[in-house]
Amino acid sequence: MTPVIIDRVREAFEARFGRESILIRAPGRVNLIGEHTDYNEGYVLPAAIDRAIYLAMKPGKESQCHWVSLDLNQTFDLTAGIFSRSELGWPDYLQGVLVEFSAMGIYVPPVDAVFGGDIPIGSGMSSSAALTTGFAFAINSLFNLGLDRVAIAKLGQRAENNFVGMNCGIMDQFASVLGREKTLLQLDCRDLSCIFVPFSRADVRVVLCDSQVKHSHAGGEYNTRRSQCETGVEILKRHHPEIVSLRDISPDMLDAARPDMDEVVYRRCSYVIAENQRVLAACNALADNDLATFGVNMNHSHYGMRDEYEITCPELDALQSVAESAAGVLGSRMTGGGFGGCTVNLVEEVALADFQNIMGEAFRQKLGKEPIIHICQLKGGTEELG
Ligand code: GLA
Repeated sequence: MTPVIIDRVREAFEARFGRESILIRAPGRVNLIGEHTDYNEGYVLPAAIDRAIYLAMKPGKESQCHWVSLDLNQTFDLTAGIFSRSELGWPDYLQGVLVEFSAMGIYVPPVDAVFGGDIPIGSGMSSSAALTTGFAFAINSLFNLGLDRVAIAKLGQRAENNFVGMNCGIMDQFASVLGREKTLLQLDCRDLSCIFVPFSRADVRVVLCDSQVKHSHAGGEYNTRRSQCETGVEILKRHHPEIVSLRDISPDMLDAARPDMDEVVYRRCSYVIAENQRVLAACNALADNDLATFGVNMNHSHYGMRDEYEITCPELDALQSVAESAAGVLGSRMTGGGFGGCTVNLVEEVALADFQNIMGEAFRQKLGKEPIIHICQLKGGTEELG
C-alpha cells in the first residue's frame, strides 16, 4: 500500500510543481499507556507506527506558498508572511510551523508542498502531529536550519498550541519524530529524557480497533481537561507551595486537599496521579517481560479514562470491554486524546484471528458498524526518503 501512496504524492507534486526537492515520511503514533499525563509533566509510552503522512516539497518560485492535501483534494495558497486561520483546518498546522520558525528569528522562504497518507484523520493516531512535524522536518532539511529532532518536536507542539489553539502536550510530536523500529518510547515529559525500550516479541501484536467516532481536539473538551488539571495544581499549591505539576503529587497529598476541591477537579487529578503510577508499573512489568501485568495496567488505565477523566465514549467502552475478556488479549484501552478514535489491544499472535472475528461481531452488533482493525508495526520516526 505504502509505495502506492508515495507514488501518488510524487506524481501529484511533479504534475503541479515539477520534481520535488525532498520527500518526507512522517509517521502516526500509538500510545500503549499514559494518557493525558504529558501536559502534567508525567510519563507516557508511545511508539511511531507504520501509518504515515508523506510530504513532497521544494522552495516556491514566487512569494507564495502553494499547498495541496491530496486525500482531501484541497489546495491552499499563502502569500508569504501573511497568516490567517483557514476554514480548511489543515493549513493552520503548516502556517503554525512557519509562525514558530519566524518566532525563533528564522526566515523561511516560500515552500510548495503536496501531502497524503494513510493515517486516518481523527482516529487518535496523531495525523496532525505527523503533518506538523513532518512539514517542520522538511523545512529544516531543505534550508539547512540545523534544528535537532527534539527541537523539531517542540516546534511542532508550539505550532499546535499557539496557532491552532490545541493545548496538546509533547507526546505525539516526540513519538512521531523520534520513534524507532520495534521500540517503545518511555518518555518523561518533565525533562524529555527517554528510554528506548525494545518491543520485538514476535508472539504479541499491537492491534487498533477504530470506533469510527471522530474527535476534534482543537479546543473543546481536551483543553477543558487541561485547565481542570491546572486548577487542581493551583489548589494543591496552597498546601504544598513547592509543587509544579500533578507529577509532584501523591495520592495522599491529593486526598488531604480534597475538601478544597470540587468533585470534578478531584477526579481529574486522581486519574492523572494514578495513570502516572500505572505507566511506571507497566514499564517495570515490561522490563520483567511480564506482559500479563502490563496488560492489567492497560485495562485499569481505560477504567480511569472512562470513570474519572471521562474522555471515552460508549463505542470505545464497548470495544474495550469485549476485548479485555477475549482469549489471548493481554490488555485493552483507549489510546490518544479521547472522545473517539481507537482502542489499542495487546493480542497474542496465536489468538489474532479469533480476536478479529470477535471484534468484528462486536462492531456489527454493538456499534452497528463494519469493523476497522489495524495490526500495527512499530516503526522509525520521521525520515527523508531517497
Ligand atoms: C493528544 C495530545 C497529546 C496527549 C494525548 C493524550 O494526542 O496531542 O499531547 O495529551 O492527547 O495522552
